[in-house]
Amino acid sequence: MPVTNPLSRRQWLISSGAALAGLTLSSRFLNDEMRAQVSAERLAAATPAKARLSLNENPFGPSPAALEAMLHNLTSGKAPRYPFGELNELIGLIAKKEGVAPEQIVLGVGSGEILETVGMFFGLLKGEVIHASPGYVQLVRAAETAGGKAVPVPLNAKLESDLDAMAAKVTAQTSVVYIANPHNPTSTAVDSAALKEFVKSVSQKTFVFVDEAYLDVADDYAGRTVVGLVNEHRNLMVARTFSKVYGLAGLRIGYGVTNAKFAAELRNYGLGTLTGPGIAGAVASLRDAGYVAATRAKIVAERAKLLALLDQLGKRYAVSQTNFVFFQTGRPHKEVYAGMLAESVVIARPFPPMLDWARISIGLPEENELARAALRKVLG
Ligand SMILES: Cc1ncc(COP(=O)(O)O)c(C=O)c1O
Repeated sequence: MPVTNPLSRRQWLISSGAALAGLTLSSRFLNDEMRAQVSAERLAAATPAKARLSLNENPFGPSPAALEAMLHNLTSGKAPRYPFGELNELIGLIAKKEGVAPEQIVLGVGSGEILETVGMFFGLLKGEVIHASPGYVQLVRAAETAGGKAVPVPLNAKLESDLDAMAAKVTAQTSVVYIANPHNPTSTAVDSAALKEFVKSVSQKTFVFVDEAYLDVADDYAGRTVVGLVNEHRNLMVARTFSKVYGLAGLRIGYGVTNAKFAAELRNYGLGTLTGPGIAGAVASLRDAGYVAATRAKIVAERAKLLALLDQLGKRYAVSQTNFVFFQTGRPHKEVYAGMLAESVVIARPFPPMLDWARISIGLPEENELARAALRKVLG
């Protein structure tokens, strides 16, 4: 179900009341499974521990230039003013980076807000949301909350999104196909040529949403991103975030790139009410030319040490293109989680049905050292 075939304007206006209520409530009134996951994760994030490696944050960030810009924003008398000028500057910089017009950018309070809004939009169409499973379900759950139907598609043997199987599930009932590339929790990226072909052909039939939250950490970012297809393919949105490689998860800034009409439609729903310091941090991050490559190098070097340990321990793991690693522990997740916590290391929640696998984020060198020692003890 492409965006070019949405609810009539009138239907959309009528349902927008419900949409608005849903949007306001969505992050607070998720279904039980999601609520349980969210609270478990929030609890874990609040648990005193020396290394919190559960939420794929990037403790190497933010860029010193971003920190300075945020402090300057707070101390230069800008707090009493609305940050509209700064907002335009950020949108302009993003548009330039992505090679699109500013009208094609939608900002979000984290890319999660965009995932939820788009999920809600398509959920209201009552169609099906095709997604890889296990996976990151924020868009999917929002769609379900609004009346859509989730169509989970198992990962392939390499723990990647199975593009052929996902394409085969597209029917007249499909409203959107959601692909996180790289994928969460498995950390894998799909073949770039295959993904581009997928986007070109599937977006003729339905809307395709590609979530590139972790793509800055992958090798060959430029070859892998599908943002270059947005101008030719109407039914496509690409989402990005400042929460991962830029190390600004606490500031909550993300964005989506799509066609101008859909962007305007989404913007009507109050997306992207960012704060002055957050905007200043994002602008300075984008202007810090060497930041991404330098941070990526630190993450990759630390990740290599973890993979070497898993090799030593004889544990299988997915090919990681991210700042986290997904590996087979050979033991129930519950035990591994508890064992790691006893060593003051928090790892991610379980991802059913892969209950003897675990996801661990790359932290600072001292946190990773502690995690490796804990893993030796728990799995060795
Ligand atoms: C695949 C993926 N997409 C999007 C997000 C949302 O991140 P944020 O709302 O911080 O931009 C996350 C967060 O972990 C994620 O893993």
